[in-house]
Amino acid sequence: MNKQSQLEKQAKVAVLFVCLGNICRSPTAHGVFETMLTKAQFNYAIEVDSCGTGDWHIDHAPDSRSAAAAKARGYDLSHLRARQVCAEDFRRFDYILAMDKQNLADLRSMCPADFNGVLDLFLNYAQNLSETEVPDPYYGGDSGFNHVIDLVENASAALLGHLREQL
Ligand code: 4NP
Repeated sequence: MNKQSQLEKQAKVAVLFVCLGNICRSPTAHGVFETMLTKAQFNYAIEVDSCGTGDWHIDHAPDSRSAAAAKARGYDLSHLRARQVCAEDFRRFDYILAMDKQNLADLRSMCPADFNGVLDLFLNYAQNLSETEVPDPYYGGDSGFNHVIDLVENASAALLGHLREQL
């Protein structure tokens, strides 16, 4: 059995991206990381999802500004719909990665003591970056949505490299 066939038999590593509304930052991370996994032919080994700590946008498509900015950079977000984080996520996911410190604090407050995965800021995986948080672009202009993609591309590439070393 070759290495790819062996890995297909193993449980996937599961990664969950989390922001506040699940319509701007975390769906962008979801779409960018998913695209990178597909291009690297690594999507058989890693499962990706995203959600929000808030409940305002459940079942909504990504914000049209996020979708347009992502599309212009080659990422399709049209299949994504918002959902709220739930207790089951701490059983299902190995990596739960928050966009900002408030998201991380909210996740920590609901994290069970026996969670043995990684709960961290997504940008802790980024390379050569002074920022530690992905800023919320919701109330700003177009440049904020492009900046989200810059940050997310950086951290996604580094996260993929990290996961490749683990598998
Ligand atoms: P996100 O952005 O957390 O990146 O999805 C937001 C989306 C909606 C709201 C806030 C942030 N809101 O207040 O509705």
